[in-house]
Amino acid sequence: MTSRDYSLDSFWMPFTANRGFKKLPRILVGARDMHFTAEDGRKILDGTSGLWCTNAGHCRPKIVDAIQRQAAELDYAPPFQMGHPGPFKVAERLKRLMPADLDYSFFTNSGSEAVDTALKIALAYHRARGEPSRRILVGRERGYHGVNFGGISVGGIPGNRKAFGNLLPHIDHLPHTHNPEQNSFSRGQPAWGAHLADELETRIVALHDASNVAAVIVEPMAGSTGVLVPPKGYLERLRAICDKHGILLIFDEVITGFGRVGGAFATSVFGVVPDMVCIAKGLTNGAVPMGAVVARKHVYEAIVDGAPDNAIELFHGYTYSGHPLACAAALGALDTFEEEKLFDRSRELAPYFENAVHSLREMPHVADIRNIGLVAGIELEPIEGKPGARAFDAFLRCFEKGVLIRTTGDVIALSPPLIISKQQIDEIVGTVADALRAVARS
Ligand SMILES: Cc1ncc(COP(=O)(O)O)c(C=O)c1O
Repeated sequence: MTSRDYSLDSFWMPFTANRGFKKLPRILVGARDMHFTAEDGRKILDGTSGLWCTNAGHCRPKIVDAIQRQAAELDYAPPFQMGHPGPFKVAERLKRLMPADLDYSFFTNSGSEAVDTALKIALAYHRARGEPSRRILVGRERGYHGVNFGGISVGGIPGNRKAFGNLLPHIDHLPHTHNPEQNSFSRGQPAWGAHLADELETRIVALHDASNVAAVIVEPMAGSTGVLVPPKGYLERLRAICDKHGILLIFDEVITGFGRVGGAFATSVFGVVPDMVCIAKGLTNGAVPMGAVVARKHVYEAIVDGAPDNAIELFHGYTYSGHPLACAAALGALDTFEEEKLFDRSRELAPYFENAVHSLREMPHVADIRNIGLVAGIELEPIEGKPGARAFDAFLRCFEKGVLIRTTGDVIALSPPLIISKQQIDEIVGTVADALRAVARS
């Protein structure tokens, strides 16, 4: 038994089965590099980078030092009509990392806020250019764009929407890209599915008229719904259709950013440059909450240069936009990624990781396996009448055996820190294999 000096009652846990958790708590009390420490002292190998965010591993010294120093030097500075060095420095570093003229960063405190900020910027952009009728925002089925009203409106995960009634008006959705008959057990980008982007033109633009459509937002690789890798040519087609009709393209890179898909960002890996990129999570290596929208020059200029002198150009921002501790963490994280060449490491380890996860194909009840970079989804056949139960059982068994995995529905998602060794990849995959065998026997 673990003795705690606190009660579990009052904390209303997010995206958690509260009653189940409080009967069977899983409490983490420490972390370093590839491992968490559980409250009973067990080391837990992190197969999920926390929640897709500690891409450089845990408690990395540069990040810890930077946060500690910053807290003692400038704890807070107001971000409206005032500045401090942090966000200027982080924005400059992001400009260097991003392709093309994705040069301007607007800071938020989460991925959800980054998404809602990008959607607002898209609407403001069209107004600034004299096209206020462009109000329709297009998302995609199975998309996850955080939990704020904009994000769940363009999002396509039914469970995240159904309790909240009417969402934003002027929304449409593209079809998702997964078709088990065509795509199962694809390695990397599936060959089938580029044509699904055409629906933007043949249905959405045809129905609403381009003059009413503001923006399309997609995760270049859909993570939270269970790792859907974009079909070859799909993102290119979306870009071309957006260009043809004056529609802004937004990539939500909250998960795919900072090395996850085998390069700095999905936009660089897939070679498609959107008008805005949403980032968060890996930006500070998860150490302090922070998100950002990185916009291309024409987006920034339309809004900022288009406004009268000395007027506030965008009536939007957060008390903690560009918070000093978040900026310190981001600079420490960006230094760590760069010095340890972690984005290259992700690309180099990807083939080993791919072979390892695809070895699970022979395990009981495995319906599909998908992967790119250092992320993989292992989809299980659901137990009839109990969706998600088989994967959750595997999650509990893996945790018991000292490995943290993540499940979404009946998909096991693996997204380990980029510092992982080959031996640790084997350990994660071996533990998942044992768990799947045990689940099948139970
Ligand atoms: C693609 C994507 N967008 C947005 C978010 C929301 O980020 P946050 O939880 O920081 O609000 C997430 C979180 O997982 C995400 O995966």
